[in-house]
Amino acid sequence: MPKITVQGKTIICDHGENLRRVLLKHKINLYNGQSKLINCRGIGSCGTCAVEIEGEVSPANWKDKMRRSLPPHSPDKNRRLACQTKVLGDITVTKYDGFWGQGDRRI
Ligand code: FES
Repeated sequence: MPKITVQGKTIICDHGENLRRVLLKHKINLYNGQSKLINCRGIGSCGTCAVEIEGEVSPANWKDKMRRSLPPHSPDKNRRLACQTKVLGDITVTKYDGFWGQGDRRI
């Protein structure tokens, strides 16, 4: 069972579980500010669930790549959309500041 380290917590989840759902289930602050209310609920269009991930996850799908190619995101930054990501092994997740989580300061 994969282990997720995030915001000082350790979470155990099922192999292949959706990262957004796991984080929200465990009350992790995935969304910044008003994006808690204004987000696409996981369909991969808003980009506000962006996080940095170290460890084994599913490859980025087309929705993840497309949304992160648009401002204020940048395809050069090491981010992923949590809602489009499956957990495949032990990972460390970092959320950054900014409405979309596009900033450089860790939350
Ligand atoms: S929740 Fe909107 S892109 Fe992930």
